[in-house]
Amino acid sequence: MWDGGVIDPLRLVERIAAVGAARADMRAMVGSGRVDRDTLEAVLARLAALAARRALFGTGEFAGGDRPARFVLAEDADGGLALSLVVHPPGFTAEPHAHGTWAAIAAVEGVEVHRLYRQSPRGLEVIDEVVLRPGAGVVLMPDDIHAVRVPGPGPARLLQLHGLAPHRAPRQEYAAPVEQAWPAARAEAG
Ligand SMILES: [Fe+2]
Repeated sequence: MWDGGVIDPLRLVERIAAVGAARADMRAMVGSGRVDRDTLEAVLARLAALAARRALFGTGEFAGGDRPARFVLAEDADGGLALSLVVHPPGFTAEPHAHGTWAAIAAVEGVEVHRLYRQSPRGLEVIDEVVLRPGAGVVLMPDDIHAVRVPGPGPARLLQLHGLAPHRAPRQEYAAPVEQAWPAARAEAG
């Protein structure tokens, strides 16, 4: 995934230390019991503080391209407490889904729009829309349903912390109601 840019060894050491300290703090917050929304908000604040150190997550080592990219920064051997830097290109969308594990997501750079849904007898209903910019983020409980769009013009770069690595969790996909499709004009206009 390395794009050939120069890795600054001091920055690498600094990032390892910062990631380790943040994960230790967040691990203490989530503990070993049930994770609730208030806990996740505290975790998000700590994650946002890490995301604010943008120089540690630069494009030289974590380049994005035309396709979404996930760089695993650290996770437990069993996939627990998985911290990733994700790069989503402009125009990226993800249809409604639930991760099957809790998550906190903090923007490092760029803009990403998260639409939150609830299930109703009529299907999915939009209940909120959150715009992630540097300093902002969102938390998701395992069953929370969200959809994602990157309006551009640049990519969105985000730190994601999952209770369990996304590829190990029982992710569930949902069909987006047609009338709630992302408006193409907005995607292009940014
Ligand atoms: Fe997601």
